[in-house]
Amino acid sequence: MRVRKAVFPVGGLGTRFLPATKALPKEMLPIVDKPLIQYAVEEAAAAGVEEFIFVTGRGKAAIEDHFDHSYELEDLLSSRDKRSELDALRAAIPDAGQVAYTRQQEPLGLGHAVWCARNLVGDEPFAVLLADDLILADTPCLKQMVDAATETKGNVVAVMDVSREHTARYGILDVGRDDGHLAEVRGLVEKPDPAVAPSTLSVIGRYILMPEVFDHLGKMEPGAGGEIQLTDAMAKMIGTQPFHGLRFEGERFDCGDKLGFLQATVAFGLARDDLREGLGDFLLSITKDLQK
Ligand code: UTP
Repeated sequence: MRVRKAVFPVGGLGTRFLPATKALPKEMLPIVDKPLIQYAVEEAAAAGVEEFIFVTGRGKAAIEDHFDHSYELEDLLSSRDKRSELDALRAAIPDAGQVAYTRQQEPLGLGHAVWCARNLVGDEPFAVLLADDLILADTPCLKQMVDAATETKGNVVAVMDVSREHTARYGILDVGRDDGHLAEVRGLVEKPDPAVAPSTLSVIGRYILMPEVFDHLGKMEPGAGGEIQLTDAMAKMIGTQPFHGLRFEGERFDCGDKLGFLQATVAFGLARDDLREGLGDFLLSITKDLQK
């Protein structure tokens, strides 16, 4: 399956990170030295995506600037012979015409944000990536999903097991056939109470969807929390098209949450050759202090 287009919904308010997100989009928060949104764009590119569609909101101009040239800065780096910094900066910018922006005028929910991209996506399979879900993996998570969608010829969501007390934070699968890698999706429930959750297998922020999802989103039926939920529209496709959850290989960090953000910073720092030793020494020393 060819997945040429990816949608990045970045219209959320990021209230859990106030005041940092008052003037800065949540997706521009850095893990080590790269903003969350750049990790997501690089993951999509590594999975073969060629068109990057951002669904933005008010106050998100920093994202547009990030994926554009900054001639003053590039000139300055060039004149100071900072070649590697300059190359890294330029490599992060998609080619002209590969990026499109549309505005979600009101934050009515994730489903509504995805629906805003319908004309830019058109009639073909597409990916959705939530930049605040950051995944450390040898094979980029979206690449694993494209392979799974090619195999199953249908919709694929990335899933992971969560503890039962946390089901009310996620979209949860009702699981059909399950080989431990791919789980057939028999049903989907958004943020169910632990007592009634059909499983503990939860959807995280990576989706490969067929364009029919837009027909269901277009009905604008509010779901959990009064928001237009992507989960509800996806649930309507079950039974009409193949639909699977992929237990991806890799570690996922919820960077929309303070603890998850700190954990990601440590994990990505330790994964870097230039930081592993210094950060490791620091962690060992404070762990000793904590144990006292
Ligand atoms: P969150 O539930 O994390 O909401 O959205 P949020 O507003 O970003 O953050 P908090 O909870 O206030 O701290 C999950 C994803 O859906 C996008 C967000 O940008 C994020 O990637 N989203 C959510 C939209 O694009 N539009 C919406 O209306 C809601």
